[in-house]
Amino acid sequence: MTVTAIIGSQWGDEGKGKVVDYLAESADYVARFNGGNNAGHTVINQYGTFKIHLVPSGIFAPQAVALIGGGVVIDPEVLIDEIRTITRSGLEVEGRLWVSPRAHIIMPYHKILDGLYEAAKGAGATGTTRRGIGPVFADKVSYNGIRWSDFAREKVLLERLKTQVELKNKIIVALGGERLDFDQILETYLAHYETLMPFIRELFPIVQDGLRQGKNFLLEQAMGTFLDTDWGTYPFVTASTTIPSAASAGLGIPPRFLTDVVAVTKAYTTRVGAGPMPTEIHDTESEVYRRFAETAVTTGRIRRVGWLDLELVRTAVALSGVTQICLTKLDVLTGLREIQVCIGYRLDGREVHYTDLDSYGLGEVEPVYQQLAGWDEDVSRAESFEALPQAARDYVKLVEHAAGAAVKWISVGPERSATITR
Ligand code: GDP
Ligand code: IMO
Ligand code: MG
Repeated sequence: MTVTAIIGSQWGDEGKGKVVDYLAESADYVARFNGGNNAGHTVINQYGTFKIHLVPSGIFAPQAVALIGGGVVIDPEVLIDEIRTITRSGLEVEGRLWVSPRAHIIMPYHKILDGLYEAAKGAGATGTTRRGIGPVFADKVSYNGIRWSDFAREKVLLERLKTQVELKNKIIVALGGERLDFDQILETYLAHYETLMPFIRELFPIVQDGLRQGKNFLLEQAMGTFLDTDWGTYPFVTASTTIPSAASAGLGIPPRFLTDVVAVTKAYTTRVGAGPMPTEIHDTESEVYRRFAETAVTTGRIRRVGWLDLELVRTAVALSGVTQICLTKLDVLTGLREIQVCIGYRLDGREVHYTDLDSYGLGEVEPVYQQLAGWDEDVSRAESFEALPQAARDYVKLVEHAAGAAVKWISVGPERSATITR
């Protein structure tokens, strides 16, 4: 039995979708346990190119059963759309995807409040995806949430939803927004429930049976370590726990059953939204900026970019007990004459660590860089570590040495097949 959590070791978008799709070949269960459709995971395989927000990226492994745990928050429209897209690509989804009735539902008022709160914070805004994530998790922990299980009890649903719409309308109107219509929300969401009913099922017996039978679980985290509510750069974080402990509450996997934690580490750093980023490259005209620049999957925003920050990766490895690293996007570095890697921070002339600082302190540190030689050879077709140029191998070795975990996989292209196992 293996229970492997795949986590991002930076600020998200490390390539988790690609890695999960690759590793799912030997999985019996693939699962999401945190976040919501703020996540955007890219999968490129024989079925096509997919931008996935809620369905586990391992769904493309036909033998795998896919689970969306109670720790995930769901915008039903997004989930329905995704199920249809994947089904159209030729894969059977019904009967193979199960959604926990414990999962909380993103309502229209959550999305509106997300936008209103962001606008009210002005320059101090988090730069959220505006998918309603903060407000829906706030409702969850303040006992105001609506779950799929509520839809199975009409009276409960009517009562709870009515209270919430009335309450939220007061806040929305006070903040200058427009009132929402209860009947319209109810009608729309009852229709969503009807569509999703065949997928909703308590996951406890499924997970327990799998564990008892020694099956292989692949748990796909959303976001990244430094967007974690507790350990990330608060308040520039997301609203759910992103470290592997979330898999326990979010899926019902006892912590001691976790066998592996794989950190997906991008060969450089990106960040979407506000918050400190010590190695950020500001010169948008520079070659390295253009090379690293990416478009965010969920919102279409341009991601902020920077050199690899190994102080962050080292912290993520220690915090989550990472057993192996998958280094992604090595191919993107090809052609750079020199590569900078941040190996630590200094503040006021002293060495400091990520955990010594709050978010604002992190914004003041000076990164300490080690310069490495680049390479020109195309690595995107390399099939073994030995086939990589010496300079690329040195880069990989520096990562594992500084981070404190072995780099077991190296991703050299976005497709499933462009992956090296060591
Ligand atoms: P996720 O949120 O962690 O799943 O990552 P995203 O899908 O948001 O962003 C990662 C981007 O990098 C996507 O466009 C992927 O297709 C792409 N990608 C993943 N691995 C590699 C790689 O090794 N090389 C290249 N060139 N692109 C990659
Ligand atoms: P994946 O799973 C990158 C960021 C947002 C914002 C902050 C809070 O694709 O790696 P939220 O909408 O969650 O309240 O926004 O978190 N954020 C992500 N950044 N990748 C993600 O997911 C993200 N999910 C949220 O940009 O800064
Ligand atoms: Mg992403």
